[in-house]
Amino acid sequence: MKLILLGPPGAGKGTQAKMLTEKFSIPQISTGDILRAAVKEGTPMGRKAKAFMDAGGLVPDAVVVGIVRERLQEDDCRSGFILDGFPRTVAQADALQASLQEMDKELDRVVSLAVDAEALVERLTGRRTCRQCGRGYHVKFDPPQQAGICDACGGALFQRDDDQEETIRKRLQVYADQTAPLISYYRQAGVLMELDGMLPIPQVQQEMLSRLQAS
Ligand code: AP5
Ligand code: MG
Ligand code: ZN
Repeated sequence: MKLILLGPPGAGKGTQAKMLTEKFSIPQISTGDILRAAVKEGTPMGRKAKAFMDAGGLVPDAVVVGIVRERLQEDDCRSGFILDGFPRTVAQADALQASLQEMDKELDRVVSLAVDAEALVERLTGRRTCRQCGRGYHVKFDPPQQAGICDACGGALFQRDDDQEETIRKRLQVYADQTAPLISYYRQAGVLMELDGMLPIPQVQQEMLSRLQAS
């Protein structure tokens, strides 16, 4: 299964990708996670990306296209992958198409999650993530058993630097301007599957699985 999860910041791409990874035993490729790891390690790429991320803007296409091109060559992508947060511009989508063609691969589905802007702000301001295992939570919609502590591994939960309201609003604008055009891009390609991302987490998952398995 070769999938893209498309949707605005806070739509639930990461949340759903983690479930799909377990279900289909294919890797989640999150350009956001890869970039945050590079920032943390202080690599040259991370240092370059940090300013764009902190401002809520996009990292240059050439950087993320390079990351994904390399990642897709790895062995664990042989039977499929879930792209989470990539592509985000038409140029990235064209580059992905070219890379897949080179590898003789084809996308199966682009799952688009639609969520209202105000719900996105509430989701992102309440998001918490485990520093140790990366599991995501929400203080209201998906709280851990003990505040601030990961159910899965006992690690400490943290809030992302770009999850401050002002930066969130900037990210939503960037999404509307640069990423939303990909919905019609993939509709025209005949691979788009539109889902109601306003439903609770388990319902979104159920709906996604049943429609993926039926197609
Ligand atoms: P990235 O990390 O990809 O951030 P994003 O796209 O802004 O998306 P998020 O991770 O914020 O949202 P999500 O959809 O994964 O939501 P989640 O499942 O966590 O990118 C960060 C930055 O890196 C970018 O701004 C950019 O600078 C750079 N970057 C990354 N990729 C790039 C690219 N391709 N090109 C250029 N730059 C790039 O859910 C959010 C919260 O809501 C959680 O708390 C969750 O528990 C809760 N939740 C989830 N689903 C539901 C539900 N159905 N109901 C209620 N709550 C829910
Ligand atoms: Mg995410
Ligand atoms: Zn954890």
